[in-house]
Amino acid sequence: MKEVKNIITIDGPSGVGKGTLAFSLAEKLGWNVLDSGLIYRLTGYLSLKEKLNSPEDIIFHLNHSKIKLLTNLKEKICEIEIDEVVLGNELRNEVVATKASEIAKVPEIRNAIIKIQRNAYDAKSGLIADGRDMGTVIFPEAILKVFLQASPEVRAERRANQLKEKGMDVIMHDLLKLIEQRDKDDMNRKVSPLKPAQDSILIDTSELSIKEVEEKVMENYKKL
Ligand code: C5P
Repeated sequence: MKEVKNIITIDGPSGVGKGTLAFSLAEKLGWNVLDSGLIYRLTGYLSLKEKLNSPEDIIFHLNHSKIKLLTNLKEKICEIEIDEVVLGNELRNEVVATKASEIAKVPEIRNAIIKIQRNAYDAKSGLIADGRDMGTVIFPEAILKVFLQASPEVRAERRANQLKEKGMDVIMHDLLKLIEQRDKDDMNRKVSPLKPAQDSILIDTSELSIKEVEEKVMENYKKL
């Protein structure tokens, strides 16, 4: 496969710092960001809100909606516009995430959103793609594939801080259990399980600052 020079993928479980790294690299390189988890969160949100119970209903809804991915590089957030309604914070809670992870096991749903994810790449701009299967399935042609890891406790603490910043109440013990269950589900599903691509670089971010992680990635990128 011919490598594409301006795509970097970042995969890994929740709370490893994928989003933060994606935006800091995007700023450095002047590229765009794809937060693929947000698309799965959208399916979770829609299924809860519109009471869509079957994969067919969810896919029908997705196919008949106008979906636009929005990246705000200045505020370092991604949002999704669906039929002219912008969703951001509504998607960032553990109820929606758990539903998203449940739906993400369904092959038909994954297939239905491949195109939305691949369309986020524009050869003129370059892309940092953040998710679970960016390096293995969606952008196997990426020039650099990064897989981040961190201990469950560190990840739960980071996720708790993100939720608290958004004014949400967090019970640490419950959050840790939810995160561990979601990662187990993501790693063990039959389609596109969470795993490092064979040619990815592995970085444990437990003891590293974001600056240090960014430096490690940039060192590897410059060697290419
Ligand atoms: O990254 P985030 O926590 O927003 O993702 C929510 C859920 O969406 C994940 O737990 C996972 O089940 C699913 N997901 C996925 N593939 C991706 C991104 C997210 O299956 N590329």
